[in-house]
Amino acid sequence: MNIRFEYADKTRLEALLPGLFAILRDNMGNIAPVEWEAWRAQVQPALAKAARQLVLMRSGGDIVGFFQYYVSGETFMMEEIQLKPEYQGTGLFGRFFSWLTRQLPKGLKTVAAYAHADNHKSRNILTHLGLHEAGADGAYLYFEGDYAMFEKHFQADRIRLIEPTEAYAEDIWQFRQEILDSTDEDKFAGCGNLADCQSAAEWIEAVRKGASAATCPEGRVPSNVYIAVREEDGKIVGVTDLRHHIDHPILGTWGGHLGYYVRPGERHKGYATEMLRQNLQKCRERGLTRVMITCSRDNPASEKVILNCGGVFEKEVPGDDTIIKRFWVEL
Ligand SMILES: CC(C)(COP(=O)(O)OP(=O)(O)OC[C@H]1O[C@@H](n2cnc3c(N)ncnc32)[C@H](O)[C@@H]1OP(=O)(O)O)[C@@H](O)C(=O)NCCC(=O)NCCS
Repeated sequence: MNIRFEYADKTRLEALLPGLFAILRDNMGNIAPVEWEAWRAQVQPALAKAARQLVLMRSGGDIVGFFQYYVSGETFMMEEIQLKPEYQGTGLFGRFFSWLTRQLPKGLKTVAAYAHADNHKSRNILTHLGLHEAGADGAYLYFEGDYAMFEKHFQADRIRLIEPTEAYAEDIWQFRQEILDSTDEDKFAGCGNLADCQSAAEWIEAVRKGASAATCPEGRVPSNVYIAVREEDGKIVGVTDLRHHIDHPILGTWGGHLGYYVRPGERHKGYATEMLRQNLQKCRERGLTRVMITCSRDNPASEKVILNCGGVFEKEVPGDDTIIKRFWVEL
């Protein structure tokens, strides 16, 4: 999914507004129906104010979503976000705010928004983002929260996939222990032979050798293994690998081109989705044109990660001791 975010050219509002209204009307029809003239009469003067911003989300030439906001003093005021239904639940919301929070001025203290009292979806999202109800204005509830907490939700893409080095040895070993202590079915997914190593140094060396056909152990497909490192504090949040091909009895049937594992304490923050997104970029750079990604039928989180990154379900196949779902991503 290749979506671009851009600030709208406010001199072109006349041409833009009908398209934006169509998205809004489709989304809000059942909650708080809006009339075109009423909406335009409210939005046009608001957008004429210098502080009011309109951001567009585009896929090719189409507008698939938009967001209005303004900053007043130390407050970030979210006015209206609308995504076309087919883009909801795809991780776009998170990617958008991750981008937007980097455009906003530093030093913000408060985030605020209104939600229609009947719009339970919006109310849930705002609560999930750490905002709480702090008043009401007619049918609309006023929500407020701490900006720093809010921003933290959208930092998943501030990670980098890098080859493991000695500098990360201690954290690698801690990471391995957390995997061993976890109750995950799929321990060490995407982590190469980390389970079998006696030290981080041994793993780092194995990863290095495994990356080229010349040094890779016999019978194994060369692959890169990356640690996903958070820029803010240098912590490893996950590990993912990239197998150079799947011309192999297991990989070609149910193993696929890559795997990933996110540290138990770092889950539900979008890291797996971002790790896969960055890994797919590496696949492209390698010249792969389509990759197979798989997960157990009983792993809804992994399935969601694959779908978030454009995976298309192909079929179910028997795996080691579970049924495996196969997906393909066209690059
Ligand atoms: C699968 C795994 C990588 C997901 O990591 P994560 O960083 O929590 O994933 P994300 O935060 O990117 O979440 C992706 C989506 O899955 C959803 N999700 C997370 N856990 C879920 C669960 N238990 N059930 C259903 N959905 C779940 C999230 O809500 C999110 O949806 P959204 O994008 O619509 O908001 C992680 O649970 C893990 O490491 N598990 C063990 C190893 C493993 O199974 N690897 C995959 C092998 S195929």
